[in-house]
Amino acid sequence: MNSPVVPAHVGIIMDGNGRWASERNMPRSGGHREGLNSAKRIVKAASDLGIAYLSLYVFSTENWKRTEEEVSFLMGLLRKYLKAEYEFYKENKIRVIHSGDLNGLPADIRSEIEAVGKDTALFEGLTVNLCINYGGRDEILRAVEKRIKLGVVSPLTEKDLEDCLDHPELPPVDLVIRTAGEQRLSNFLLWQSAYAEYYSSEKYWPDWQIEDLEAALNAFQSRKRRYGGY
Ligand code: IPE
Ligand code: IPE
Ligand code: MG
Repeated sequence: MNSPVVPAHVGIIMDGNGRWASERNMPRSGGHREGLNSAKRIVKAASDLGIAYLSLYVFSTENWKRTEEEVSFLMGLLRKYLKAEYEFYKENKIRVIHSGDLNGLPADIRSEIEAVGKDTALFEGLTVNLCINYGGRDEILRAVEKRIKLGVVSPLTEKDLEDCLDHPELPPVDLVIRTAGEQRLSNFLLWQSAYAEYYSSEKYWPDWQIEDLEAALNAFQSRKRRYGGY
């Protein structure tokens, strides 16, 4: 099957903020701040290119291992910008949803996430799925918990479990992009990316431009997806 011109669901592992900052003798926080600008630039580009779903890996269930200083800086960025970008969402008809364990987040951030979800729920353009306190294994585990609470069914189908994921309405990920040259998934959307095409970019996330997204989409278009067939 040939890949469609524009993938329906793109996931981005936005990596390299720290290295970008180190190369400039800046604190890591400077890289995260610049990473936020990149995120906004790429969200706008994805919207203009007609991508329907964009999942952004913002903070993983493993990122709590970092120093308290770095974690609280990242939480501060979320606190400051999640809702403040409402005009940007409105202008571009961007619907914001969240994947990950809300319960593990500070209460004020949890309510900001809920508020931005409600405020943008009726926008019909690009859906941005912010993965915050997100881990693929954690999501699957929480889905199993939900499934058990609903009543165990046997035999269990993929659809039964999928219905209990954070956003069952999300289509499978077509393309996973990772910046900063790494070649691993780091627990990102494990279930949804089962047959995703993978694209690694050498550039650090703060350096990412619209052309880099276009290059990733071009690479995607040349892939032959076989899904286990021929
Ligand atoms: C990605 O950049 C942002 C988060 C994981 C929050 P990093 O902070 O991982 O940057 P590097 O990988 O250390 O350069
Ligand atoms: C993955 O990046 C998480 C996010 C981009 C939010 P990491 O920098 O945390 O991943 P590892 O530690 O290099 O695998
Ligand atoms: Mg990293």
